[in-house]
Amino acid sequence: MTSRIRVGGPAPYDVVVGHELIAELPAFLADAQRVAIVHQPTLRSAAQAMYESLRSHGFQAHTLEIPDAEQAKSIKVARFCWDVLGRSGFTRSDAIIGLGGGATTDLAGFVAATWLRGVRVVQVPTTLLGMVDAAIGGKTGINTGAGKNLVGAFHPPAGVIVDLATLSTLPSEELAAGMAEVVKCGFISDPEILSLIEQDPAAALDPQSATLRELIERSIAVKAYVVSEDLRESGLREMLNYGHTLAHAIEKQQNYTWRHGHAVSVGMVFAAELSRMVTGLDPARVRQHRTLLEKLGLPTSYQTSSRHELVESMRMDKKARGNKMRFVVLKEAGAPIVVDDPGIELVYSALNTVAYEPARASSGDESQGDQ
Ligand code: GLY
Repeated sequence: MTSRIRVGGPAPYDVVVGHELIAELPAFLADAQRVAIVHQPTLRSAAQAMYESLRSHGFQAHTLEIPDAEQAKSIKVARFCWDVLGRSGFTRSDAIIGLGGGATTDLAGFVAATWLRGVRVVQVPTTLLGMVDAAIGGKTGINTGAGKNLVGAFHPPAGVIVDLATLSTLPSEELAAGMAEVVKCGFISDPEILSLIEQDPAAALDPQSATLRELIERSIAVKAYVVSEDLRESGLREMLNYGHTLAHAIEKQQNYTWRHGHAVSVGMVFAAELSRMVTGLDPARVRQHRTLLEKLGLPTSYQTSSRHELVESMRMDKKARGNKMRFVVLKEAGAPIVVDDPGIELVYSALNTVAYEPARASSGDESQGDQ
């Protein structure tokens, strides 16, 4: 069974969810003659199968192998892709396919956004994180010395193909990490997601289960609704940042060696604790964050050598305004709001519930903070 979820906005498109969806590609490619399949090294054989299928449909296909993970999101890799497109004579009506995880689809989208000021891109995410978040909504970008995703463009895809069969080859840790964004969709918009996970956490993590498929479709529907209303993040889209302000600070402190989903998991517990202090969020709802994330094997606390550094990073977050810290908090499940500058004491109080410093053996005092 194949399902379609419409993403509205200035350039509407479909996210197609199902199994063995290669036959869906030609319709998304419209009148393109040349097609570049941008893929990570681990997907060489999937890219080759796609190449052969496109050739059999009469497209002039090319495969462009790029480095794994964040290594892909550099100006050097973008230049390599531009060079190949130039040598192969790619015109305005030609197309790019992003086949891989979030880093690959971000880079492929960025190349498509910049080549001839914008050509068609079709995203084919192969990780849970890519399926429910990165490949939908048209955010594209690369990293620079100054930070992650600081250079990019909003460039919505012409279509997104979510082939659930690829989840069976995903390492279980990768699947669990992607689940953090699914849980986020539950807390900010669709609490039925939370009930489904609570009823059967093992099924939620089973790549072949109907439960996981429903969780993916519901999360895509949340993302589709949000970006349909606010592509350029001038309001509603900011809600997708729930848990992400602390998550970005943790990722930076860990030199991007922590999985994004793990950082978001800790970040959501922090955001829930802050919500309790700012909006009076029910403490049972805060506890639900911890129990549910732990059932999925996700971290809910974080050891740091400096809470102060985390707070300073949150001040510099790219979503901050001026010197004010900005957080998405919950009034209730499904009811997020943005709070500007909740006050440094509250930020530290919430942080102290999730971030702990290594015990100092010599002083014997484990409660010392660095506020
Ligand atoms: N990943 C958050 C967004 O697309 O806005």
